[in-house]
Amino acid sequence: MQPTPVTESEFNNPRLEILIPTDKLQARIREMGAEIARDYVGRRPQLVCVLKGAMVFMSDLMRAIDLELSIDFIAVSSYGKGTRSTGEVKIVKDLDEPMEGREIILVEDILDTGLTLSYLVNNFRSRGATSVKIATLLHKPDRRKVEVEIAYKGFDIPDEFVVGYGLDFAERYRNLPYIAVVRGLA
Ligand code: IMP
Ligand code: MG
Repeated sequence: MQPTPVTESEFNNPRLEILIPTDKLQARIREMGAEIARDYVGRRPQLVCVLKGAMVFMSDLMRAIDLELSIDFIAVSSYGKGTRSTGEVKIVKDLDEPMEGREIILVEDILDTGLTLSYLVNNFRSRGATSVKIATLLHKPDRRKVEVEIAYKGFDIPDEFVVGYGLDFAERYRNLPYIAVVRGLA
């Protein structure tokens, strides 16, 4: 029996409208990496990736930072998602490396309301990090609820739900090599 041929392309899915193409993402991430390398010269930053969404960005960004550095991962989930976000965040997978005395660069896929990153910045400071800076690939300025300082930002985007390059809709689309808007979402 013949296996069912795979004819559908996920990357050319007609419901996806490309917002930021691959070449623009990669060029901007290279610039961000060069900027970080300049700012942290002579230091040894620790990059903390917020799973799962930031993994694709993190993987590009770290290879664009020509410095000695280390990496770590954290996974969080927010309480009351969708209804009323209290800004309370639950750590689902904690860091493996000590924070004490380290210069942390928090690597995130998107800054939306800012509640997640605001919680993490305070949490890392309370654990003894010397400094905590944010590097985010995307930023939705219209959605901001709390003040969060962004040190490195890839792109400002409009208030639309985006997927790809690590970002998901119900765990789908993380593998798209570009950022897209999904048409036909409720
Ligand atoms: P915040 O706490 O509201 O800033 O939430 C940020 C998190 O919400 C991100 O890390 C994403 O996981 C998720 N998120 C916010 N906007 C989008 C989007 O447009 N697409 C996919 N995920 C999003
Ligand atoms: Mg995320």
